[in-house]
Amino acid sequence: MTDDRRSRAWYGMIDKDGFTRRSWMKNQGFPDHVFDGRPVIGICNTWSELTPCNSGLRDLAEGVKRGVWEAGGFPVEFPVMSLGETQMKPTAMLFRNLLAMDVEESIRAYGIDGVVLLGGCDKTTPGQLMGAASVDLPSIVVSSGPMLNGKWKGRDLGSGTDLRKFATAVKAGEMTLADFMATESGMSRSKGVCMTMGTASTMASLTEAMGMALPTNAALPAVDARRMALAHITGRRIVEMVEEDLRISKVLTRESFENAIIANAAVGGSTNAVIHLLALAGRVGIELDLSDFEIGSGIPLLVNCMPSGKYLMEDFCYAGGMAAVLAEVAHLLRPARTVLGGDIAAYHQGAECHNRDVIRPFDDPLKPAAGLRVLRGNLAPRGAIVKPSAATDDLLEHEGEAYVFDSIEELKANIDRDDLPVTADTILVLKGCGPKGYPGMPEVGDMPLPAKLVRQGVRDIVRISDARMSGTAFGTVILHVAPEAHDGGPLAMVQTGDRIRVSAQAGTLDLLVSEAELKERRAGWVAPPPHYTRGYAKMYVDHVLQADRGADLDFLVGKDTRPVTRESH
Ligand code: FES
Repeated sequence: MTDDRRSRAWYGMIDKDGFTRRSWMKNQGFPDHVFDGRPVIGICNTWSELTPCNSGLRDLAEGVKRGVWEAGGFPVEFPVMSLGETQMKPTAMLFRNLLAMDVEESIRAYGIDGVVLLGGCDKTTPGQLMGAASVDLPSIVVSSGPMLNGKWKGRDLGSGTDLRKFATAVKAGEMTLADFMATESGMSRSKGVCMTMGTASTMASLTEAMGMALPTNAALPAVDARRMALAHITGRRIVEMVEEDLRISKVLTRESFENAIIANAAVGGSTNAVIHLLALAGRVGIELDLSDFEIGSGIPLLVNCMPSGKYLMEDFCYAGGMAAVLAEVAHLLRPARTVLGGDIAAYHQGAECHNRDVIRPFDDPLKPAAGLRVLRGNLAPRGAIVKPSAATDDLLEHEGEAYVFDSIEELKANIDRDDLPVTADTILVLKGCGPKGYPGMPEVGDMPLPAKLVRQGVRDIVRISDARMSGTAFGTVILHVAPEAHDGGPLAMVQTGDRIRVSAQAGTLDLLVSEAELKERRAGWVAPPPHYTRGYAKMYVDHVLQADRGADLDFLVGKDTRPVTRESH
């Protein structure tokens, strides 16, 4: 028995309390010797049939267990809340912080020494990392892995991205409804997460860039046998990490966050990475803010995957995956430790690219300087973001008249009206979709294009909101405007007909209305009534921070690593 091992306080006691915990565990058939002081490894599983992207995690948990047993540990799997992005209302993001609380308190309350986080779908990876970071045990991630490439009539289909393109094509009369519906089954052909570089694959890729998972974790398809082998090897590694006391705080450093920002630019990653990295940094006590994302603004786009490019995650895997990308940007990466124990340079050492059209060389990128841009101005004093790699270049410098929707319901009821007074120069503004307003900051910022413009051949216009957008989405979409409209931010004061100026180059977002007029509007502004008056949603609205702070709950920022000393019996 290792005296200072955390699990000793649960299973090493020769007294009534130790008896109780061991005896009840033995009802699962565990023999005496597994309580001999070996590392107890928690397998924190977000498997659920309601989270189809994570439906392969029950199998992967078995792979992790094989590795843990082999390395002399004692694996114990436990469930936490699962967040099915496509299945939850009003939005899975409302519950990311609840998952993080579940993960944190489960890890803290149970007698485990290290934890393997099994997640995949968009909010599960950040939620699990946030929760684990607030306890600070040795921790490592195994992701679901992407679905196989979608297929339909001989062409590849990308989750989310092609869905949006096809929905617009139906609106334009360029695709039949029957063909549209026929793509439904071909889009999701196996277990796994969206196989575009959406939020799930972005977060899995950044997890590698931050050194929180073993190489190949992000891109190996969910159903590739090598993912099971990866789970097995990860099970072995977490036991070693416990022996080495390689805690999450030794891996998640300021340098590893900067590496994640660089990697996010290179892969054309999701705008959602901003909000999740900010929240995660808050858990480990690293002062990261929106301006730090400027590190990525000069980084070229290297990965040719939807929505910024044309390939899918399966192609990315066969081309070399994240290790090959990290090797390409190696000269920019900061020295940072990984779960392997060494530096990030050792992590990608020897990585090769096998398809230069999927992973472009640094000096021949898909787009130069394609990292996310932070915009500030009188419309977004605390910032907003735009993703140039998924935008229309000409619209990134634009001035136009606003057409305002005060709510998502108003947008849905009116967007396709033939008499909607909009042109290709109009800037659509959507209010009430921030963290408090919706609540939960849903992925509705990429508002659908008005049908009348689609019929005219318009395929992108500037859109501004306090919402997020899916990592699979595209367009000149300005997101995460902070403070949000519901909180009385300047977005709440915008009226139809106001002029707005956007400059991604200058990093500005301005409402061209006089300060005197804005003051008058502010004086007449009334806060909308609350949507929720009880339960978790009320707690969320009462405590959620704005987008520029990662939309974490104010009382969850930071960590608590004190030992748990009080007994339940
Ligand atoms: Fe789950 Fe895309 S909806 S990963």
